[in-house]
Amino acid sequence: MKCRESGMPEEALWSTFFDAGQALRKLWPQAGGDALELGCGYGTFTFAAARRTDGLITTLDIEPAMVALVRARATELGLPNIQAQVRDFVADGFGIAPGSQSHVMIYNLLHMDEPVRLLRHARHVLRSEGTVSVMHWRSDTPTPRGPPMDIRPSAEMCATWLAQAGFTQIEPVDLGDCCPFHYGLAARTAAEA
Ligand SMILES: C[S@@+](CC[C@H](N)C(=O)[O-])C[C@H]1O[C@@H](n2cnc3c(N)ncnc32)[C@H](O)[C@@H]1O
Repeated sequence: MKCRESGMPEEALWSTFFDAGQALRKLWPQAGGDALELGCGYGTFTFAAARRTDGLITTLDIEPAMVALVRARATELGLPNIQAQVRDFVADGFGIAPGSQSHVMIYNLLHMDEPVRLLRHARHVLRSEGTVSVMHWRSDTPTPRGPPMDIRPSAEMCATWLAQAGFTQIEPVDLGDCCPFHYGLAARTAAEA
């Protein structure tokens, strides 16, 4: 089931909202290993992530056209470490081995139904001391796009959901200079005993 209000404007407009390379440097500072992205869209963050690791970036999207676009562009850009798959991650799960990922990226999505369930799944696929990053449209100010204000989570709400899903070391990530309409959060799975 497609997440509510998860459609996108034209790519030319979408790309004006982000400096994806700078955002990834902040959201995934210790890049390395394999990472999973939930919802590739136009690949705005997929390509930036793939440039930061030799590991595999698996990205899932329910829209075949988005996946086809990301696959084609990954080839054009010479980024062989991207695996884009058509998959409904709400209905069908992630299809990723437990404990296998260094990082999970969840951007512009957590206004969905059952966000804690999704975050629990994310924790499950992360290795010990793996990290998750969340980015979302600001809820404290009008923005040129984004889901309706009444379903937008605040950064504090996302932090609470991360904690409920079992993440630790939940920290805000300042995206003001690269994505002025967004906030970021990063969190970690606990180290294995
Ligand atoms: C608002 S866009 C964000 C895309 C990307 N994360 C970004 O920030 O540029 C959300 C994406 O998630 C995809 N999506 C929504 N519900 C989904 C689901 N249940 N399973 C897989 N993809 C889904 C949409 O097709 C869309 O491409």
